[in-house]
Amino acid sequence: MKDGFICVIDSGIGGLAVLKELIKKAPTEKYLYFGDNLNAPYGNKSKRKLWELTLNNLVYLSQFKLKAMVVGCNTLSVNFVNEIQQFLGVKTFGVFPPVESAIINHKNPLLICTNSTAKQYENLKGVSVLGLKNLAYEIEENKYFLHNIDLSFLAKEIHQKNCLILGCTHYELLKNTFLSHFCPLKILCGAEYTANMVAKYLKNNKSLGKQRRFLVEFVGKNQTENRLFWEKVVKVD
Ligand code: DGL
Repeated sequence: MKDGFICVIDSGIGGLAVLKELIKKAPTEKYLYFGDNLNAPYGNKSKRKLWELTLNNLVYLSQFKLKAMVVGCNTLSVNFVNEIQQFLGVKTFGVFPPVESAIINHKNPLLICTNSTAKQYENLKGVSVLGLKNLAYEIEENKYFLHNIDLSFLAKEIHQKNCLILGCTHYELLKNTFLSHFCPLKILCGAEYTANMVAKYLKNNKSLGKQRRFLVEFVGKNQTENRLFWEKVVKVD
């Protein structure tokens, strides 16, 4: 289905970091962006509540012709990527914190993520895990002042770590701030890996889009803020 949309979903603006990577790797596609800003943040909600919200959103998204779904949210991906694929019946990709590669390639990695994502990794050996209750919310609320977000509270946690994994797509929007605060710490994120997987899938399935230039539509209630943030801050040329 060459002419279907690739849909990206998130609780809010975080998935735009994934959309940006997708456009770099698959620039001839039509993208649908759905941010559930009304219910953000997701990271402190119960699994049951998250699935209820997700189901509602998937019913809404079923009206569009999709060729792939990209769950641009670590919290949703670790909890429901298979259920989402099953519900929609289209190839579905998640964004996951690159924990395995951090363990193999770096000493003492630290994963920061939402509390919900932290639950999935807390028993894993070789990585320290820190669930952050407020950072995604702060990013959502201060989206036009990202450089003002204070990350100094992390300095103590990062002490003696060699690698920091950003396990929430909202945090990827702050990647440069993390880099400047904590240089020379290695910073790892999941979106680029997901974008590579999607591009490979499209190529292998001969379903690359035919747009001369990518196209992005924002769908669902309250998408003005996502569109404005995309146009003003994230920007892809
Ligand atoms: N951006 C999402 C993630 O990757 C969700 C953050 C939130 O809504 O708490 O986990």
